[in-house]
Amino acid sequence: MRRGLPEASYCGTVTAFGEAMASKKSRSSKRAQMRTATKKEPAASKETVKPLLTGAAIQEKIREMGKRIRADFPGEPLLLVGVLKGAVLFLADLARQIPGEVTFDFIAVSSYGKEAKSSGQVKLNKDLDSSIEGKTVIVVEDILDTGLTLEYLLRVLQQRKPKHLKVAVLLDKRERRLVDVHADYVGFNIPNEFVVGYGLDYAERYRNLPDVGILSLPGASH
Ligand code: IMP
Ligand code: MG
Repeated sequence: MRRGLPEASYCGTVTAFGEAMASKKSRSSKRAQMRTATKKEPAASKETVKPLLTGAAIQEKIREMGKRIRADFPGEPLLLVGVLKGAVLFLADLARQIPGEVTFDFIAVSSYGKEAKSSGQVKLNKDLDSSIEGKTVIVVEDILDTGLTLEYLLRVLQQRKPKHLKVAVLLDKRERRLVDVHADYVGFNIPNEFVVGYGLDYAERYRNLPDVGILSLPGASH
């Protein structure tokens, strides 16, 4: 469940930004798609995505971040730990911007109870493939929101005695923070809005957008 957002069905058309970002389709296939969508769902159920960060701006920021990370740990082998699934695109691009020895591994978590109370519990769904003891580890996350996921992950990983444990996030929604946790490398500070694209999803969709945008659901005020 996503905090603050009602569950909504999806009609198959992404308006405005989403359409602009989608691969170019022929007009006739678009018309056919729209006819299908109109039949299935009323127009009011359309989700819209408003541009926030372009793919180019994201890539530029990642280039800077990669340089900074390498400058902070010159000559050291680095292990990037990506948090599935949202961080996959970010990790793939970040890894290519860090010169020298870089390996990666993935971890998956899920969280409960975030909407109602601040007592969000986090569960480990997939562990790392190998030990991080004595290694310089950079946790790579798509977005830092309440901070509950990262707080849990850092606690788990710290117990495994890495040499260094750092955090790189593409996006930071500081306003939403419930626990005192911070990232060492932050791409963009963003407002308290639900965003999708570049790995971030709503009900598993939109991860493939090359840009990040603000999602509006039908009936929402923005
Ligand atoms: P936290 O534990 O509240 O910091 O949440 C972190 C996770 O929630 C992120 O890794 C995302 O998977 C998800 N999340 C938080 N905010 C958003 C958002 O605006 N869009 C998509 N996913 C989000
Ligand atoms: Mg995530």
